[in-house]
Amino acid sequence: MTTVLVAGATGSLGSLIVKNLLARGAHVRALVRRPSTDQSAAHPNLTLCVGDLADGSDALQRHVDGVEVVVSAVQGGPEVIIDGQRELLRAAERGGVQRMIPSDFSVNLFGYGYGINVLSDLRRVFADAFATSTVARTSVAIGAFPEYFLGPVHEVLDPAAGTFSVWGDGTRPIDITTIPDTAAFTAAIALDPKTANREVHVVGQQLTMLELHDEIETVSGRRWELVRRGTLDDLRAEIVRRQFTASSVVEYVALQYQVAMFDGTASLRDVRNADYPDVTPTPVATYLAEWNFRDKCREVYPRNFS
Ligand SMILES: NC(=O)c1ccc[n+]([C@@H]2O[C@H](COP(=O)([O-])OP(=O)(O)OC[C@H]3O[C@@H](n4cnc5c(N)ncnc54)[C@H](OP(=O)(O)O)[C@@H]3O)[C@@H](O)[C@H]2O)c1
Repeated sequence: MTTVLVAGATGSLGSLIVKNLLARGAHVRALVRRPSTDQSAAHPNLTLCVGDLADGSDALQRHVDGVEVVVSAVQGGPEVIIDGQRELLRAAERGGVQRMIPSDFSVNLFGYGYGINVLSDLRRVFADAFATSTVARTSVAIGAFPEYFLGPVHEVLDPAAGTFSVWGDGTRPIDITTIPDTAAFTAAIALDPKTANREVHVVGQQLTMLELHDEIETVSGRRWELVRRGTLDDLRAEIVRRQFTASSVVEYVALQYQVAMFDGTASLRDVRNADYPDVTPTPVATYLAEWNFRDKCREVYPRNFS
């Protein structure tokens, strides 16, 4: 039975990766910074490992000894994505780990170069660490999580104004995969040794922004005014403008993802869903139907509903 260590096991994605791995019969070591009674009451094949990537490779070593695959679903800035994951990789090398899935779970970020997206750059820098590693890298690309893409940071939906905004002509298909589907694919990929030294692209559904707008109108039963915010060059200019004034990358990074999604450089290629026939991704319409627009908008856009 394969033993997998999951870093970021308390996160939105990592916690579901743990569940999916257990469902597939793997032994799972969940790296957590603060253990809770909830987690310790869990599954016979689940071991809690208390640790922080900031503890360094010596401290992480005991958690990876005997592990075949490391999956990282951590989130953070360079101290986590570059420095912290490097410590985990060093520990994995010493522990004889065969493969590591880094915390990418993004658009096809290797489809574009440095300087396009500040968060992708962190992941590209970490990917370079595998060039001299004994641990094989498996990167998982899934496109955008609808849970985030339809949230306030992306500025696509504005429930108070009743608008759906699009940059460009909205006719190029984009890649959308829910967090639960990403977790299901990732567990399958973690247990698939053929994925060593590969970037594996899997997807929930590919559809254009105009199709997404129509699906949202159908499922929500209300009109969402389509707002055309400008061309992709206008979008690039808006990103540069915000970079001068922003107090945080959150103010422009979503637009950096969008420009690469809408110009096609971040589009998934060679999609491998057929390699994982037991994962049935959720169509966007089904996801949206379960989304319960009014309650969800109230939850993710609290200011608009206060
Ligand atoms: N494609 C998309 O649209 C999209 C959208 C969002 C996220 N993502 C990606 O999905 C991945 C997971 O994101 P998420 O939303 O699931 O993140 P999340 O819910 O914020 O969870 C982050 C996890 O990382 C852990 N962590 C952070 N720093 C750590 C450290 N120094 N040592 C050990 N653990 C640490 C956190 O532990 P604590 O619980 O202790 O804080 C938590 O378990 C990331 O790569 C993110 O970029 C993709």
